[in-house]
Amino acid sequence: MSKIPVVLIEKDEKKINTLLNFLDSFPEIGKTRYSNDILDLETVLAKKDPAVAIIGPTYTISDIEEILKHYNSALNKIRLILLTSEISEKLLKYALRLNMHDVMEFPVQEKDFRDSLKRTSYLFDAKGTIFENSDKQSKKIMFFSTKGGSGNTFLAINFAIAIKQKTKSEVTLYDLNYQFGDVALMMNIYPKNTIFDLVSINKYDDENLDVFLIRHSSGVKILPAPIDPSQGDNIDVDITNKVLHGLSRINNYVVIDAPFSFSNTVISTLRNIDYLFITATKDVPSVKNLKICLQLLERLSYPRENISVILNRSDSKVDFEIDEIEKTIKRKIDFKISSDRIVPISINKGIPAVISAPRSIVTKNIIKMIDIVNAEPEISKIRGALNNI
Ligand SMILES: Nc1ncnc2c1ncn2[C@@H]1O[C@H](COP(=O)(O)OP(=O)(O)OP(=O)(O)O)[C@@H](O)[C@H]1O
Ligand SMILES: [Mg+2]
Repeated sequence: MSKIPVVLIEKDEKKINTLLNFLDSFPEIGKTRYSNDILDLETVLAKKDPAVAIIGPTYTISDIEEILKHYNSALNKIRLILLTSEISEKLLKYALRLNMHDVMEFPVQEKDFRDSLKRTSYLFDAKGTIFENSDKQSKKIMFFSTKGGSGNTFLAINFAIAIKQKTKSEVTLYDLNYQFGDVALMMNIYPKNTIFDLVSINKYDDENLDVFLIRHSSGVKILPAPIDPSQGDNIDVDITNKVLHGLSRINNYVVIDAPFSFSNTVISTLRNIDYLFITATKDVPSVKNLKICLQLLERLSYPRENISVILNRSDSKVDFEIDEIEKTIKRKIDFKISSDRIVPISINKGIPAVISAPRSIVTKNIIKMIDIVNAEPEISKIRGALNNI
């Protein structure tokens, strides 16, 4: 279990010291932040970072009721314990209605406090990935290809912009191709920061992440891959998970451009996403890999309904006809994107097709892909799948 972050708010300095000493004796508690101003409770609840918030006995329920009513949904992630000099049934009932975690008499009995703390621990379990169990705040959508050069990055970029245009919500495009990522290049961005810089400072809190993201003129935020491929070597699965959780806290959609490989990073990311687009083309190596990839996902009980297959350059005259591909992979192709010169033109100009050619068929087909993601399939099933890898 990871350490439990605790926030203590109490007016009286002496009581703060007493409580800090008391909390020190609990090894399961991580860093305790404290304040003597009850208004700081509002900041804690607004941030929604999972924590246990302890309100000291000098404050009463009437000091916090309005704040709690306003930020009630945050109390699923922030467990609030009110310390009081006198417990009454009326107080307990009211605390329950306000969705508080506990009310305890001050001075607190060690055993009671330990029990109460234990009941918060599920929020902080599982290898420090405390956000996994908390409410999902964003949709994480991954683009994965079955062969290099399939058009995966082109599609991920344009999909991210299309979803931004349609939903006007917060969208970040995460370049997971740490070795040869070209999202920034294809969007005509010369990144001031990349994920490598983020890893160097090793801070993944919301503010830091937000500052690190590069703003594209479309409003989509970008987390670029390292500029030098060797810089990607140290970005491991744990870091990737932290970054992804961080991005999902501050976005409505996180679109991931994944490299063509079943690396540990890709597999681990697959566990955490809500929707997968697989980009394939009509040539033999691509269709062969598509089949292997779908079989693998099926063996891992990955929900079929959370996967779409995109056939890029679907009108090209190579190797396979579409119905042959469908027979081979035993499922329908969900989206077809034809070959179009606007694709290389838009890439060379660094202006994504959704912006430079909004009326093109390619753009229209990419826009159609938004609906399937927003159709709310059985997203919950995807979590927990793939645990056998
Ligand atoms: N529908 C299309 N019509 C014409 N050209 C296309 C189409 N889709 C992709 N291309 C071309 O294919 C090339 C590869 O595209 P892209 O970089 O998006 O693929 P990728 O799968 O991300 O490749 P990599 O494996 O290098 O990451 C680009 O030069 C692009 O111009
Ligand atoms: Mg690519």
